[in-house]
Amino acid sequence: MIRARITGTGSYMPEQIRTNFDIEKMVDTTNDWIVARTGIEERRIAAEGEYTSDMATRAAERALEMAGVSASEIDLIVLGTITGDYPWPATACIVQQNLGANNAYAYDISAACTGFVYALGCANDFIQSGRGKKVLVIGAETLSRIIDWTDRNTCVLFGDGAGAVLLEASEDGDAGLLSSHMHSDGSYFDLLYQPGFGTRIMLSAENYDNRSNYLKMQGNEVFKVAVRSLTSVSLEALEANGLSASDVSLFIPHQANKRILEATAKRIKLNDDQVYINVHKYGNTSGATIPVAMDEANRAGMLNAGDIILLSAFGGGFTWGSALIRW
Ligand code: COA
Repeated sequence: MIRARITGTGSYMPEQIRTNFDIEKMVDTTNDWIVARTGIEERRIAAEGEYTSDMATRAAERALEMAGVSASEIDLIVLGTITGDYPWPATACIVQQNLGANNAYAYDISAACTGFVYALGCANDFIQSGRGKKVLVIGAETLSRIIDWTDRNTCVLFGDGAGAVLLEASEDGDAGLLSSHMHSDGSYFDLLYQPGFGTRIMLSAENYDNRSNYLKMQGNEVFKVAVRSLTSVSLEALEANGLSASDVSLFIPHQANKRILEATAKRIKLNDDQVYINVHKYGNTSGATIPVAMDEANRAGMLNAGDIILLSAFGGGFTWGSALIRW
């Protein structure tokens, strides 16, 4: 049986750190409020002239380097992002150009914070179908440019960054992606979205003055559905593989908010030491949170042969998904 194995991980976080104390000077908030409600202490902000494609490229280079694979060997690049360099073409094509991955084709996936998990699912299907052998799966975001830095309800939550994994076809042993599960429900689309500027709410003086080009969110509603969906899709992955919470070596959830992660872990019946959390350092980097966390955990020696790794994400759309991996 062909399985998609992760043979390299990489990440890139911009240098500039914006702490809660920095944000105290921008909006009516406090470090204590942000830490108590979200667990976030600081986030990274892309430098002027630094774009999603740049961060995605750095993360991808690091994943390729770890795997010992050259860019020309890649068959496909799938990038989960909602903050691409341009409305189109796909930022994945710019990453392809940067890497010199001339034998690949490349596309973006727009599934907000579930973007990486969706991308991983598509890449897994591609490999299992026998269509290709090596896929770069990336999550990269420059959310700081679609955040309204005058809105305390949202600006404290998000940050920038990129993570990547290299998936390779393997017929050797039982390691690899065991299953992936994807869902969406468009009836919730306007609880978490960016109204402008697409082709519906276009760039105009009025729409600009309304701040339509910034992320809008109903935080309370999002919170409730996020916990419910992350729990159900995590259990779905375990059940599909005949496993239970005690079999999970590490749960790497989308890092939205510490309270969401803790509530979800409790419902799945996971202990604290089974859950990877780095939201305090980076905030919510949407499609980038899971591959960044995976890379950190991998480089810290926390992912070992045979380990069962559970990934789950939730985001705008609403979208949600999970993947179960035997490392
Ligand atoms: N600093 C201080 N006060 C703030 C604040 C901030 N940064 N943001 C909101 N508040 C205020 C609100 O204005 C409100 O004040 P009011 O009672 O006077 O109206 C009060 O805090 C409570 O707001 P509420 O929205 O009920 O707080 P909450 O406990 O739900 O926490 C979130 C707000 C955003 C932290 C929480 O809802 C959340 O995490 N939601 C999920 C968001 C998310 O993860 N989105 C991405 C999913 S992928």
